[in-house]
Amino acid sequence: MVDIRHLVRSAPHAARCLSVRHFSVPVSLCLLLCNNGIVQTSALTPPVEVESVSPTDPEVILGDRLFFETRFAQFYYEHSAQNVNAALAHGDRVTDHLQAATRPPISGVFRGMSINCRQCHLGDDLLSWDQFAGRNYSDFTRRSPIPDRHDGIQQTVRNSPMMVDLGLPRDVPSLFHFDGEFASLEDLVIDTLTGRNFGWLPSERRIARAHIARVIREDEGVNHRYIADSARQGIPYRVVMLGTSDRLPPHLRIPTRYRIDVGTASDSQILEAAAALITVYVESLRFGTLNTGRTTESPYDIFLTKNNLPKAPADHESAERYAQRLGALIAQKEFISWVAANDGTFSLHNQRYEFGPTELQGLRIFLTTSEQSRSHAGNCVACHVPPRFTDYRFHNTGVSQVEYDQVFGEGSFLRITIPGLATRNSHVDAYLPPSSEYGRATGRFRSMPSKEMPGYADLGVWNVFANPDLPRPQKALRQIFCSQFKQLVNCVDRDILPLTIAHFKTPSIRDLGQSEPYLHSGTELTIEGVLRFYINTSEMMRRGTLRNGSEELAGVRISEIDIPPLAAFLRSLNEDYR
Ligand code: HEC
Ligand code: HEC
Repeated sequence: MVDIRHLVRSAPHAARCLSVRHFSVPVSLCLLLCNNGIVQTSALTPPVEVESVSPTDPEVILGDRLFFETRFAQFYYEHSAQNVNAALAHGDRVTDHLQAATRPPISGVFRGMSINCRQCHLGDDLLSWDQFAGRNYSDFTRRSPIPDRHDGIQQTVRNSPMMVDLGLPRDVPSLFHFDGEFASLEDLVIDTLTGRNFGWLPSERRIARAHIARVIREDEGVNHRYIADSARQGIPYRVVMLGTSDRLPPHLRIPTRYRIDVGTASDSQILEAAAALITVYVESLRFGTLNTGRTTESPYDIFLTKNNLPKAPADHESAERYAQRLGALIAQKEFISWVAANDGTFSLHNQRYEFGPTELQGLRIFLTTSEQSRSHAGNCVACHVPPRFTDYRFHNTGVSQVEYDQVFGEGSFLRITIPGLATRNSHVDAYLPPSSEYGRATGRFRSMPSKEMPGYADLGVWNVFANPDLPRPQKALRQIFCSQFKQLVNCVDRDILPLTIAHFKTPSIRDLGQSEPYLHSGTELTIEGVLRFYINTSEMMRRGTLRNGSEELAGVRISEIDIPPLAAFLRSLNEDYR
């Protein structure tokens, strides 16, 4: 396992190099690259033509440091005796281990420290310990443990998702989190840094902000992933963020728009500047690219290339139109060019690099819509639209209901009383999630089901839509729902709200091999498990026993014999992302 602190002590420049996420080449090679100063990005042409930031851009490097910064947490605030350059005498216990759904707990990457973004959004941190323990910014557990504040909350409500490709442009307005809580990544980052995942209670937002600003102002470059000068000394954040000092190597000077004088800036301005840097880092994460001189494209992508099939929508073509066109081409064509071991290799996935007849059969089922076949169709493409395999919209595939009924018995979810808009909004404490304004709200409908709390469930975007406490995502949500819910006569909030019950954002399904367990509940451990889940819930939808299920789900008509080809196809979307 990589012990970063040890690495830093023995070879700070190695850790510095390793920290550029796409550059996770073996340490020896990394040293070589760093020492010769030939960190190359030329192999990094994204498959889709979009404005892209490179992992070696100084703002991305700095964003990466902040993503790993362990001192922003409430635990550090409480235990560092107000000295932001102090090491903790003992770390937050939440960092001791990484919980894992499919293996024993793993020794914590940040043991002895406190929580940070990376703890729940891992990458190549564990590869030297187990070559198949790579992550695409998710973690290993169903729901991530969070710092203990004696408020009864021990873990995140939802599964930590894969995070690659979030910066790509979308056909629909951008929203983040399974429930669309955030309209921008900056909002997400600010709320996360000052929120419960970092140990801060809803009433502590201001203290959190002041603490984070203070860490940035007073840092002496002692954090374990500092930016180093030519003498390999850590450079304080205030110098790196000002961006002008001679001490800064030219390739580490951030562009003017990210610069800030933290000596004169307010706490909020500093927090916003940090959030902008973390955002640009998150946006730099892209599939299909690696800086070790080759691409990491999946067998599926290579299959498209070898058969001259379009890999992305044409100019002015929507993803939906592209998906139809691709489906039609694939339905007609006789294929002779398969993808096999000589086309690529996997080192991070325990499987052969291939796209053959079985994968093609799975792809065909995946792309077959319910309009094309009423007896045998995956209809997956109705929501998982290529090339990103998401429509970025919200649907109910039955995840909350199935999990709730597993705890309380079949039919229980159907019996939960869910208030309408007026009742909900006039009883915020009873029905909506806590916020700085409503610190004592129960969040009853943004809860994982548990025996002790009957009636508590996760209704997803229902918590966010028309929630006056969350003004920012409302415009995008209305736009999405007014075009999505065709059954609406008048697109008014009161009528939209009930249709949002148990709806969650469609995740991308690329590189699933590095992000199990699956679904917002983390309840499915394998791809086959997810497919059996769909066999079950699509049947419930047709029988009329799925509460507010999505129409497209009824069109999913697959059976046990479709599982091997569909699973093979989904695995052909794996890639050696690191
Ligand atoms: C305690 C674990 C934890 C920590 C710490 C954490 N996250 Fe997350 N993150 C999650 C979980 C769980 C979700 C899913 C939340 C949801 O959808 O409701 C998530 C979701 C996200 C998403 C949304 C992805 C999408 O597709 O919508 C982004 C981006 C993200 N986190 C970035 C960050 C950043 C940046 C930080 C540090 C500032 C951070 N996270 C800290 C657990 C964590
Ligand atoms: C009605 C839209 C819809 C259809 C149809 C649909 N999905 Fe999904 N899919 C979703 C949504 C939404 C989620 C997230 C659900 C949740 O966690 O609550 C999801 C989750 C998944 C996941 C888990 C991803 C992860 O990282 O957790 C996989 C795998 C998946 N779908 C594959 C498929 C396949 C294969 C099909 C066709 C058989 C299919 N889906 C059909 C909307 C859909």
